[in-house]
Amino acid sequence: MDLRIRSFEEYQKAYQYSVEQPEDFWGDIAGNFVWKKKWDKVLDWNFKEPKIKWFEGGKLNITENCLDRHLEERGDEPAIIWESNDPDEHHRVLTYKNLHQKVCLFANVLKNNGAKKGDRICIYMPMIPELAIAVLACARIGAIHSVIFGGFSAQSIADRIQDAQCNIVVTADGSFRGTKEVGLKNVMDDALVQCPSVQKVIVLTRSRTPVSMIKGRDVWWIDEIHKAETLGQVDCPAEEMDAEDPLFILYTSGSTGKPKGVVHTCGGYMVYTGYTFQNVFQYNSGDVYFCTADIGWITGHSYIVYGPLSQGAATLMFEGIPTWPDAGRFWDIVDKFKVNILYTAPTAIRSLMQHGLSFVEGKDLSSLRVLGSVGEPINEEAWHWFNEQIGKKKCPIVDTWWQTENGGILISPLAGITPTKPCYATLPLPGVQPVLVDEKGEILEGNNVTGNLCIKFPWPGMLRTTYGDHERCRTTYFATYENMYFTGDGCLRDEDGYYRITGRVDDVINVSGHRIGTAEVENAINMFTDVIESAVVGYPHDIKGQGLYAYVVLSKEARDVELTKKDIAATVSRLIGPIARPDKIQFVYGLPKTRSGKIMRRILRKIAEGEINNLGDTSTLLDPAVVDEIKNNRL
Ligand code: WTA
Repeated sequence: MDLRIRSFEEYQKAYQYSVEQPEDFWGDIAGNFVWKKKWDKVLDWNFKEPKIKWFEGGKLNITENCLDRHLEERGDEPAIIWESNDPDEHHRVLTYKNLHQKVCLFANVLKNNGAKKGDRICIYMPMIPELAIAVLACARIGAIHSVIFGGFSAQSIADRIQDAQCNIVVTADGSFRGTKEVGLKNVMDDALVQCPSVQKVIVLTRSRTPVSMIKGRDVWWIDEIHKAETLGQVDCPAEEMDAEDPLFILYTSGSTGKPKGVVHTCGGYMVYTGYTFQNVFQYNSGDVYFCTADIGWITGHSYIVYGPLSQGAATLMFEGIPTWPDAGRFWDIVDKFKVNILYTAPTAIRSLMQHGLSFVEGKDLSSLRVLGSVGEPINEEAWHWFNEQIGKKKCPIVDTWWQTENGGILISPLAGITPTKPCYATLPLPGVQPVLVDEKGEILEGNNVTGNLCIKFPWPGMLRTTYGDHERCRTTYFATYENMYFTGDGCLRDEDGYYRITGRVDDVINVSGHRIGTAEVENAINMFTDVIESAVVGYPHDIKGQGLYAYVVLSKEARDVELTKKDIAATVSRLIGPIARPDKIQFVYGLPKTRSGKIMRRILRKIAEGEINNLGDTSTLLDPAVVDEIKNNRL
């Protein structure tokens, strides 16, 4: 069976087949990939433990699917097109041949530095082709990559490296973001003080900012490449991996405690990202595809690197930010490279909208055929602006709903095939069986219902465990409702059976499409010297979608209120990263609590949203006066 769905009728048929005979369906799809040995069994699962195994007994290497298999037919075609932060720096194009060579060479560098199959390797790099090369080189030798987004602080990096016990780090001196320069190696050095497991640090030069280099531990990327070349190590056979061997760990925030290391495995992830990339975006050979995400997030893993490359696509990587040198940068890039498919986030759209149409006018956007959105619910205004001003009403918008834990897109239109509706992720992809459940866990049948979104059957791209703590995986995702994966999202199924995601129903806040756990931010705030306790909630924010509103109880009156707020924000920046800085901090004398001592977040959320006259049932409050004080001083 061909991967590609070409009509709505074909979609309906594929969907039905995937539900009635899931093993046959996914076996057929997996037949479109290169396996060193075919699997013995397509699926073995239960959501109780959970145990999820796809394509057991199958042997493969994902990089053979992303690189080697394309060499003959499209070796000289672009694999990665790279646009610098600086519009005056020349762009780079890596063909499939170039990329294959570079990945093999760097894979040998990793081996020369002691990397072995199963090792965990931390990657903390700018958005340059070498980041993709490092990722693929890990996969080539069967090492498990753990990519950390450039906006995390030293403490966050250290937590992640320690959790996974990484032995090698790949980083760069610095990275450019608009007019700013981030000293990645310096941040990493601060992290490494707490990371005795790390034996080697491979440092690429990008910004050529001065960095410390420690003898015996730190080596320059370029020197190691030269060494491997001198040794004639140009080839690197792809390690034979079991379908269920881990491919990577990616940390993400949940409603409690520290971030979890979501584990994805080789076979199912490959099949799922390749299949969904083809069908959601309807990629045609020769198209230029531009996903504006960072490889530090799941969207970049699945839809800049693995999905597009396994399908032989030309994937465009952009180092900079949408608003520098001006708010027309995305449109300049579309114009310059004749981009056909653009995949971005609502927060970027809202921020560009604000700058006005002058940055869109005069740019040739006629190459665009498909637009995509991901990361958070897209609001109606942004959807229409994207459709009218960018797509000129000619490009279908695929509003793709999915999560780090899912590996790939679960609910989305297929571009040009599924009729769209503003703000709706529309219908589940083949193989995905969503259900809505109420608070009690009863399944809501029929249409025109709203509930908590669960998935009742496994799909190949789903997480297998959380690194080092399988029980945490079970309790977080599989214990809320029996025999179902719980997403943490609320959702509406309308009269046409279309799905609309309404946002998180747990204590996760989606700030500019980044997942932030309230507990994590509260822990950081509580580390501040004069803080007794705090509560963090989300509130609607014009650009970010949601902002962070922190209620903080101090042990003594602040000497300078504004400065103390800045100190607290700086503490959060230091402990988590600038992306978790609260937008608003309100000092309060107490938090609203129940008699049993539970913070009533519902009330705090309402106040942050400005709904002060509609606080709902407050009869269980221990001390109602606290609420009046908070209401009267709200920001
Ligand atoms: C939200 C990003 C509405 C959702 C791929 C989910 C969305 C969380 C959409 C996962 C969408 C993602 N419409 N909400 N199209 N896409 N979300 O793990 O709340 O960074 O649970 O994965 O983002 O964020 P994550």
